[in-house]
Amino acid sequence: MDTISFARGVPAPECLPVDELADCARAAVERDGATVLSYGSSAGYEPLRNWIAERHGVDPTRVLVTNGSLQGMVFLAERFAGERVLVEAPTYDRPLKILAAHGVETTPITMDDEGLDLDALAQALRDGKKPAFLYTIPTFQNPSGRTLSEERRHRLAELVREHELLALEDDPYGLVRFDGEAPPTLFDLEGGKNIAYSSSFSKTMAPGLRVGYFVLPQVLEHDLEALATSTYITPVLLGQATVFEFLRRGNFEPNLERVSTLLCARRDAMLEALGRELPDARWSQPQGGYFIWLELPEGSDAGALLERATAAGVTFVPGTDFGGAPNTARLAFSFVSPDEIKEGVRRLAALVREPLTV
Ligand SMILES: Cc1ncc(COP(=O)(O)O)c(C=O)c1O
Repeated sequence: MDTISFARGVPAPECLPVDELADCARAAVERDGATVLSYGSSAGYEPLRNWIAERHGVDPTRVLVTNGSLQGMVFLAERFAGERVLVEAPTYDRPLKILAAHGVETTPITMDDEGLDLDALAQALRDGKKPAFLYTIPTFQNPSGRTLSEERRHRLAELVREHELLALEDDPYGLVRFDGEAPPTLFDLEGGKNIAYSSSFSKTMAPGLRVGYFVLPQVLEHDLEALATSTYITPVLLGQATVFEFLRRGNFEPNLERVSTLLCARRDAMLEALGRELPDARWSQPQGGYFIWLELPEGSDAGALLERATAAGVTFVPGTDFGGAPNTARLAFSFVSPDEIKEGVRRLAALVREPLTV
């Protein structure tokens, strides 16, 4: 029996525009090979940097293009090593590990269906030493799939301004929207003085390109670029030039639409299967992204369930890996087909219903 993975937060193979990217990589080398195949600016491939700057309405000096946005997270952790950072609970586990490896103390802030709990945030700002920054994923959050409501975005932008609190808005999923209206980004609401914005071409093009970026507040520009220089001199310009060629050809929007359609079918399949198979559980209703957050009945243990699920041919990530409660789990719908999703949820539900024998 093949294992069905709800654990892998990666795109299904058919989401990747393989042939077009092969062509773009060749064209990038042919057109600008002497630049692309040499050392260059540590802040990234200039044409791509300019494209990103124009898209976000900032000076290109504020844009740092990194080897995946996670690399930028490492730079931030190095820059603020040993300090205190506020994080959402639950949140993406890799940044938690990166921050911990740099001696950063993280303070979890609770969330509900509308995203970050701003009263809890205000309380955390009153207690303890001033945080170096707040790490937030306001749209189609990893792991919960939740989106910060528009009203809370306005309040959060105000709080950030009032406290001169640096916030990192990590937004790799925002454009991968299936339905509903996109709310404004925190970056746009606040004007980008206290907000660092990060995104990536991992979900809109291909993660293997390893092209992510940061739009930084002026105070951080120099420090982060210096960390990039001392880490790798130059990021992978071939990946960045391939991305730029893809953009230049006008492929970005049509590809995004294609990818969103594929993912939407997967999201729908998972929501429908959950509704049919797990009437006693709760789950988030994401309008985009890769993930659904499952809340099993109080007292359930998703960690113990995973052991049995693995044996039964379905996997997921327990919520505790992200700082969530023991009865929660992250289900990724991005990787598997709609039919596998249906079968995977069926396998999972059979285990949830099965009384545990002691
Ligand atoms: C919230 C979030 N931020 C950042 C990343 C990493 O993106 P990249 O591939 O650009 O390093 C991911 C990848 O899953 C993610 O979910």
